[in-house]
Amino acid sequence: EKGPYPHFMLKEIHEQPGVAARVLGSWTARGDGTVTCDAAGLGWARVPRLTIAACGTACLAGQVGKIWLERIARLPVEIEIASEFRYREPPLPEGGVTLVISQSGETADTLAALRYAKEAGQRTLGLVNVPTSTIAREVDVALATHAGPEIGVASTKAFTAQLLCLLGFTVMVARQRGTLDEADERRWIGALSSVPRLIAETLAAEPAIAAAAAGALAPASDAIFVGRGLMYPLALEGALKLKEITYIHAEGHAAGELKHGPIALVDATVPVVALAPSDGLFDKLDSNIREIMARDGRVLLLTDAAGAARLGEAAWRTIVLPDCEPFLQPFVQAVAIQLLAYHCALARGTDIDQPRNLAKSVTVE
Ligand code: M6R
Repeated sequence: EKGPYPHFMLKEIHEQPGVAARVLGSWTARGDGTVTCDAAGLGWARVPRLTIAACGTACLAGQVGKIWLERIARLPVEIEIASEFRYREPPLPEGGVTLVISQSGETADTLAALRYAKEAGQRTLGLVNVPTSTIAREVDVALATHAGPEIGVASTKAFTAQLLCLLGFTVMVARQRGTLDEADERRWIGALSSVPRLIAETLAAEPAIAAAAAGALAPASDAIFVGRGLMYPLALEGALKLKEITYIHAEGHAAGELKHGPIALVDATVPVVALAPSDGLFDKLDSNIREIMARDGRVLLLTDAAGAARLGEAAWRTIVLPDCEPFLQPFVQAVAIQLLAYHCALARGTDIDQPRNLAKSVTVE
């Protein structure tokens, strides 16, 4: 049931603080200041590489997870969209682990990637939202996403739940690999515990996001999303969400790639959404954004107070989001781009929960 919400998508966006609290409860269930899950027994200190395969939004969650796992746990990670993975016939390392990520647990390509990895002798993990699904049954270890049923075709709460599970997983792996010590782990649990509040604070920016969506983005026929580092997969997710439910042609790019081609598209009719938290990459992004503005580009800046102080005056529109430490920025920006797409679709009058041509679960190749 939708309750007071006009669409399942909006209801599911607003459920995210509660979902995050549920995920945290499961990852810290031992209550002894440690993060754990059923995958802890795989001996992560000796795993040479993690391979991730997934589709769509689940794959973008995996791309964020790759960055966390490589940076925090120093675990090499390969990621590929599941529909390409098995046809490429990649060699998989001895002792390796393959992780598949899927909300439905029924996506045909993701299931085929899992079967390929099993045949290649990999141990397998699944991050799955539907516990009774085929993927949950076929993996060696199934990790629950705890998002609850997701009805809107555009994935929202499943994405943030996948992210939070991947960050909890990263902390567990990092402890085993010795890149975090006990005190670091306690600090991380503190950081993870702030995610439900951060998401709630981002939801409070909904009126500002709705105004920018209706006034600035909804009239456009094309849009570009840019970001760096953790914000690159989030830019891809922002573009995916927007095109799915508004039918606006949207592209996501790594900001540093703009000058290698996509900047040719920029003019006053193509809004550029910049995912711009004031992190260590902000200076680089700042110069990319100024290049866009110099070509009459209209930049919609998703940033924090410090970022707004630096770039807000030059930007076309600025939305100020909560401050948080850089590793947690994906949660803030994920909710912001979901609300942006939702309110844009609302202004355009499209079918938000059942967009044309799309199915919730893609069980054919
Ligand atoms: O059920 P899955 O997570 O395996 O589905 C994967 C994609 O089909 C899915 O994330 C799709 O991209 C969503 N509609 C995105 O909002």
